[in-house]
Formats: sequence, structure tokens, C-alpha cells
Amino acid sequence: MPRPKANNPRKRLVNFRLTDTEYSEMLNTAEMAGFDYLSDYLRFLHTSKHSASSGTHYVREEQAKYNVTEPDLFLETPHGKIFHGDSLGLLHKTLKTDSIDLIVTSPPFGLVRKKSYGNEDADRYVEWFRPFADGMRRVLKEKGSLVIDIGGAWKAGTPTRSLYHFELLITLCREYGFHLCQEHYWWNPAKLPTPAEWVNVRRIRVKDAINCIWWLSKTPWPKASNKRILAPYSESMKSLLTNGYTPKLRPSGHDISDKFGKNNGGSVPPNLLALANTESNGAYQEYCRANNLPVHPARFPSRLPEYFIRMLTDEGDLIVDPFGGSCITGEVAESLNRKWVCCELNKDYLKGARSRFVGVKPKLAKGDSTPYQIFPPCSLNGKADNSPLTKDGGFNRVLKTPRQKAFRLVTENAQGLFESKSIGNRKPSKFGSKGLLV
Ligand SMILES: C[S@@+](CC[C@H](N)C(=O)[O-])C[C@H]1O[C@@H](n2cnc3c(N)ncnc32)[C@H](O)[C@@H]1O
Repeated sequence: MPRPKANNPRKRLVNFRLTDTEYSEMLNTAEMAGFDYLSDYLRFLHTSKHSASSGTHYVREEQAKYNVTEPDLFLETPHGKIFHGDSLGLLHKTLKTDSIDLIVTSPPFGLVRKKSYGNEDADRYVEWFRPFADGMRRVLKEKGSLVIDIGGAWKAGTPTRSLYHFELLITLCREYGFHLCQEHYWWNPAKLPTPAEWVNVRRIRVKDAINCIWWLSKTPWPKASNKRILAPYSESMKSLLTNGYTPKLRPSGHDISDKFGKNNGGSVPPNLLALANTESNGAYQEYCRANNLPVHPARFPSRLPEYFIRMLTDEGDLIVDPFGGSCITGEVAESLNRKWVCCELNKDYLKGARSRFVGVKPKLAKGDSTPYQIFPPCSLNGKADNSPLTKDGGFNRVLKTPRQKAFRLVTENAQGLFESKSIGNRKPSKFGSKGLLV
């Protein structure tokens, strides 16, 4: 039988020269990746590159297979809707394709120690997130943004960090065609110094006080304006604006023009959001306590969604938080006259969230606006402890107080206690990683 004619036949022939090494390396790589011909491999590289940079979603076969249930409507407000149920149903069924201007959310983090609302294992986090990524991609408008607040995690039993949130970012960009518009960091100055074992006891790590915020989009040009989120000018900038500025060339070669002295109403903030999570949520907490409902244990401060909602959406735009928790995103969106949808798996959290909308007019929380102080590194100018570093990197815990020493004696004599939380001065090989804290 004659071969059917291709619709778009490959008529063009390209010749290019390679060195022997280039040739054998390329051939090897193509073979290892399962390609029979070098041309197929090159075509694959070209298509992948093109898809990622043009924002074309790799249509994944699994997409059609999602067997999801739509969440139930829990509450409706003038601008928004709260759904109860699995947000996979929301993202794959309830919401229309290309209908959302902003997804701003804080998914359960990939933790080693699980929280009460059920976190995912850091090790399988990306796999867990894939169907959500597919759904987010589906509902987001071409000019929309996806903002994910995600905290880091320590690996079990060692003072080292999981890579899960970076892996998520890379997967979202490489496999789902998202663009990283800009990473932001949320610095929580009120964060406690944990894990105490590495930070306070062995003194070998510092306080983990930031969450990563991945701001992603389908095209490199989502709608955005930093004029919406300007910060107050510093005292020195105010004085410069009053007293004038002489344009000059900086040592770096940057030409600081006279435009630098123009008052723009505020300064462009850095990608570091300094927000202590101590914002008063008085009415919400009081309502939960009075009604014997759980206060959500992992709320983000309202200024976090407020920052992105202001910068990335206009009034009337539609915002979604698929991991709604106590619906702070909804409260902020409602106050800013945006349409919104929140979805949450745990009904008790939604019963508490009601208090933000029923019988009250949602308003923006009044957070503290005093700037936080952070010292430049090494500001004690060498006046700190300069004793020699331990050669084992803190592997063996140094027992100092009589109580710690006494406790060690007890643990040494007691069978089975190696799996308890307070083990010191022991080599993990004897009892595995469970004997170590964290
Ligand atoms: C980090 S919390 C979000 C807190 C929220 N930003 C706030 O400030 O209140 C993550 C939430 O996602 C919810 N969740 C987890 N999986 C979900 C799913 N498949 N569908 C809907 N909600 C889910 C959890 O119950 C939890 O309340």
C-alpha cells in the first residue's frame, strides 16, 4: 500500500557541521532519551523550548482522566462564593476555562511534621500538586497570574532542607508552561526560632523566617502595575525630594538622572514582604472560640493577598483561592470590590470563615505599618562568640547543663527511648534517624 501523504510534508533539508565529539555526544543523548533518529531528538528539543517560552501548555494525557466531584456552594456574598469540597472539582469542573484573573493561594505545605489540616509529604509533593497545576492552568486567563505562598521544610532527622518547593516551581515552569514573573519572599519577623534542635540547642542553623511566594503567569506579560503597591518613602528619600538631587554618574556606571528626584507618591517596594503574622483577626478568632470552631492554624496575613490583588487585578476581576482555609483571600477581595471564589475541604474552617461575611461588612484588617528593623549581617562587628567550630558540624550534641547530662544517662539506660524526642550525643547509625530531633 502506498504511504499516505502527510498534510505538512517535511521538504526542507538542513545540513550543519558538528565536531566528532558533538556528533557522538548528541547521538548518545538522543539514544538514551529513546529517540531512534537525531532529527526526532532535535525536533523534540525545539518543540519543548517553543512550548515553554510561548506559554503553550503541554497537554498532558492525564487531564482527561480526572474523575472529580464538584464542591458544594457553602456561602454567597455580594461579590463572592465559598465552596466546600475538593478544589480539584472546582478547578476541573465548576470554573470555566480561561475565566480567572488571579489565583492567589497558600496550599498545604510539604512538611515533615504534619499539621492538623493535613499536609502533604515533601517527598511526593510535586506529584500531589500536578492535578491542581493542570486545573489552575485551565481556568486562568491568558493575562492572569498565579501566586503561590509556600514555606520550606527541613528534611527528617538532619539539619538540611527539602527542595520540594523549588521542585514545584521548576515543574510548573518546565512542564506546565508557566513563566516565573518574579519570586517574592515573605519575611515573618515574628517567626519563632525553629527547629529548636538545630537553631537553639546545637546552634548550627539560623532562624527560618521566610516563605517563598512564586508569582507565575501564562505569558511573560500578565497584567500588573507596581504603582498600586508603592511603599512610603524613606526619611532620606523624603529629604532628597524636598532638598533636590544633583544628577550624577554612580561608581557602578549607572546614570542617576534628575528623574530620580521626582515624587511618584511612594517608592517601588522590593520583592520582600515584611509581615509579622500577628495581625489582629479578633472578630474571626472570637467567633470561632464562641462557637467551638477551630481557629485556622495556618492563616496568612491579609496584606499578603492584598498586595497581589491590588497589583495584578482591577475592580470586578475574578480571583480564586483553591485552598481557602479561613477565606482571608475572599475577605480582602470583597473589600476591594473584586469578584472571588474560595474553596476549602474542611467544613469547620468554613463555619469560622462565615464570620468574615455574615452580619458584617468585610473590611481590610488594620495591620501595623511601622517598618521592621533588620540589621545588616555581622553588625556585632566580631563581638559575638568566637570559640572554635566543632569539627563534626554539630553532629554530636554538646551536653552542657546537669539536667541535659542526667537526661542522657536516663536515655542511655532506657530501652526504646531512642525514638523519643530528646536524644543527645549519639551517633544516628546506632538507632537510625528517628533518634534525632526534628
Ligand atoms: C495553608 S491553608 C490555607 C490558609 C488560608 N490561606 C488562610 O489564610 O486561612 C491550606 C488549606 O487548604 C485546605 N485544603 C487542602 N487540600 C484541599 C483540597 N483538595 N481542596 C480544598 N482545600 C484543601 C486545607 O484544609 C487548609 O485549610
